[in-house]
Amino acid sequence: MQEYAVGKITEYPQGSGKVIKVAGREIGIFNIRGRLYGLPNTCPHQMGPLCASGKLTGTLIATKDTDWQRQWSYDGEVIQCPWHGLEFHVPTGQCLALRSVRLRRYDVVVDGEEVKVRF
Ligand code: FES
Repeated sequence: MQEYAVGKITEYPQGSGKVIKVAGREIGIFNIRGRLYGLPNTCPHQMGPLCASGKLTGTLIATKDTDWQRQWSYDGEVIQCPWHGLEFHVPTGQCLALRSVRLRRYDVVVDGEEVKVRF
């Protein structure tokens, strides 16, 4: 596993994300309440630029736990693919529509002021 410096922590404000290019990969790095997460900038549906907008949102979910009533969930933890709208939970990589689809996640660490990605 290698570690790649991808900028200063001040370049990753809370509540947003941005795509970086490192070692031939495009990775979306998101800051959710001070914790950094990395996901591939490639949607598994048709290879859309999943993380390009950098906008975090939530989603409506209805489950047995909510008595099948829709409820706003995962506020500030969801990225939506700009091509066809599939939603993914950033901290887990889970596709919210297709339970069998989960994205690879990259380790993102803060070392002093420096942000580093490992893979
Ligand atoms: S390419 Fe992402 S939803 Fe289709």
